[in-house]
Amino acid sequence: MNTQPIGIFDSGIGGLTVAKAISKILPNEQIIYFGDTANLPYGDKSPKLIHSYVQNISEFLLTQQNCKSIVIACNTASATSYNFLRDKHKGSVPIINVIDPIIEAIVKDDTLKTVGLIATKTTVESGVYQEKMERRNSNIKIKVLATPLLAPMIEEGFSHDKISKTVIENYLNHPNLQNIDALILGCTHYVLIKDEIDSFYNGKVRLFDSTDLLALKLKRILEKENLISNQKIKDDLFFVSDLTPSFITSAKRFYGQNIDLKLISI
Ligand code: DGL
Repeated sequence: MNTQPIGIFDSGIGGLTVAKAISKILPNEQIIYFGDTANLPYGDKSPKLIHSYVQNISEFLLTQQNCKSIVIACNTASATSYNFLRDKHKGSVPIINVIDPIIEAIVKDDTLKTVGLIATKTTVESGVYQEKMERRNSNIKIKVLATPLLAPMIEEGFSHDKISKTVIENYLNHPNLQNIDALILGCTHYVLIKDEIDSFYNGKVRLFDSTDLLALKLKRILEKENLISNQKIKDDLFFVSDLTPSFITSAKRFYGQNIDLKLISI
C-alpha cells in the first residue's frame, strides 16, 4: 500500500477529463492536479518552450508534492516532452502519457484500417502518433488534421449549440479525414464534444480518447509496481498557475463537479 499522491498535469483544465477518469477507476488514490493556465495554450507553442514548462511542473509534482507517479494529461505535452520525462525518471517513478493507451487500443483492433486524428497544431506537427504506430509495425494508415479552433471553442463554453455544430462539421468534412474507420480525439478538451462528433458520424466511426484507457493503464502499472493505495487518506488538490473566474466555471464543466482551484506559483 502506497498513499503518496498521483501527479497529473495539463496546459490548463482540459486534463481534468483525465483526472476525473482516474478518480473513478482509482477511487482510493489521492490526486494532485496542476493546470498551467498561465502558459496555455500549449497547442501553438514550440516543443522547446513546452519542454521548459514540463520540467518545472514535474519538479513541483515530484519534489514538492512527493508524487509516486506522473500523468501527462495533455496531448501536446505528451507529444513534445514524454520521452524526456521518461528517460529522466527511469526506474524511479512511472510516467504515463495520454498517447500510448490510445495507440495500444488501436493496434490491438485488427478491424481498423484507416484512422483519423484531430489534435492541436503542435501535436499534429510532432508526427508522434504516426511514429508510435510505425514502431509497433502497424499497417494502419493515419489521416491527420490540426483542429486549433476546437479547444478554445470548448473552453469558452461553446458546445452542443449552432457554433460547435458548424465548427465540428467544417473540420470533420475536411478531405484529410474522409473514409476513416475510427477517429482519435487527440486533445483532452475534445472529450466534452465526443457525443457531438459521434452524432456527426451517426455512430459509424469509432472514437478513441484517453480518459478511461489511460486510467486503466495507470491502474495496471500501479498494481504491477506495488504502488496502489487501498485507502484514500487525503483530499485531492487542484492547482493552477493563473486563476480567473472563467477557469473556475470551465473547471466545473470539465470535472463534472465543483472543485476548489488553488493558485500557485512554481
Ligand atoms: N490540453 C491540450 C492538449 O491536450 C490542448 C490545449 C492547449 O493547446 O493547451 O493537447
